[in-house]
Amino acid sequence: MRVGLIFGGRSGEHEVSIVSARAVRNALEERSHDVVPMAIDRRGLWAGAEVSAEVLDRSGDRTDSVVPFEGMDRLAPSLLGGQLDVAFPVLHGPYGEDGTIQGLLETLGVPYVGCGVAASAVCMDKALTKRLLAAAGLDTPDWIELSRHEFRAGSGTVAGACTGLGFPLFVKPARLGSSVGISKVETPDGVVAALEEAFRHDTLVVVERGVDAQEIEVPVIGNHEPRAAVPGEVVPGHAFYDYADKYLDDACRLLVPAPLDHEERERAETLAVAAYRSLGCEGMARVDLFLERGTGRYLVNEVNTIPGFTPISMFPKLWEASGLPYAALVERLLELALERHRERAG
Ligand SMILES: Nc1ncnc2c1ncn2[C@@H]1O[C@H](COP(=O)(O)OP(=O)(O)O)[C@@H](O)[C@H]1O
Ligand SMILES: [Mg+2]
Repeated sequence: MRVGLIFGGRSGEHEVSIVSARAVRNALEERSHDVVPMAIDRRGLWAGAEVSAEVLDRSGDRTDSVVPFEGMDRLAPSLLGGQLDVAFPVLHGPYGEDGTIQGLLETLGVPYVGCGVAASAVCMDKALTKRLLAAAGLDTPDWIELSRHEFRAGSGTVAGACTGLGFPLFVKPARLGSSVGISKVETPDGVVAALEEAFRHDTLVVVERGVDAQEIEVPVIGNHEPRAAVPGEVVPGHAFYDYADKYLDDACRLLVPAPLDHEERERAETLAVAAYRSLGCEGMARVDLFLERGTGRYLVNEVNTIPGFTPISMFPKLWEASGLPYAALVERLLELALERHRERAG
């Protein structure tokens, strides 16, 4: 198949996306697919195939791919020319994981890997995600949402509402990712500064009760009959799983699989599949859970519709531990994309 590999993009996870895309390309080539690389630079401009391939080939230092790319075209001709059998967006965060790229591919009639427009958009929005999870009877940490407008109108009252949740609190921009703009707040006098920081990144903010929990990640794939891989655990190296933990240092540990007993593991998998269904996910997603210490209760944290795909990322590692090696996983995702496209066509 001719597979359009879309990577890079406008979000803070630009470099990670390139590392993921490189690994996906290798897997696609291993399976004898014809890969059409499509790089998007930090401004949102699409590169032609030649420049895109160069970006992928430059291994080593992640930052050397920082744009501007030379020889930029406004939009990859291969995408517009109807030459692709399927597209694989390997883009993390806003303008890629959030339904925007998926919408573009829908308008062009190109089948694509992963969740559709609505599920992608909902999962990028922590407030919308929580509302749908609640409607399905699935627990999340207690939370409230605040708009920048409300905050500016009366920051004192707003801070009071947050305090009502108890401490510690987590204050998060509603529609971002990679922990950017997120603060853990231990005392009431830290609330306003945390809100100000989060509102620098988004007009909508989610404030949650902090839970003392193990962080359990569950990969799920499928359309009508989603199934979960064995869960993994993230053990943060900092006060929480922050940006530095994710991308800058090696302080955090990824446990593949998570050290859970049989019953804890089954509950995680069942909950992950239920969350996946309730959000309308298709293709794939990684469902992140909290396993609360003391109560043994699971809470859903968030759902990532385009999880990391680097060779050391949780999503492929956990599938590998579940008997589906990297290249076979990628192949299965292509099949799911085509299956959905055929069904839609009736
Ligand atoms: N309610 C919470 N209780 C405890 N820790 C939390 C809570 N919310 C977030 N965290 C910590 O912050 C990290 C990032 O939050 P998350 O909601 O996953 O944002 P992102 O979309 O940026 O990954 C989590 O992995 C976890 O370590
Ligand atoms: Mg997260």
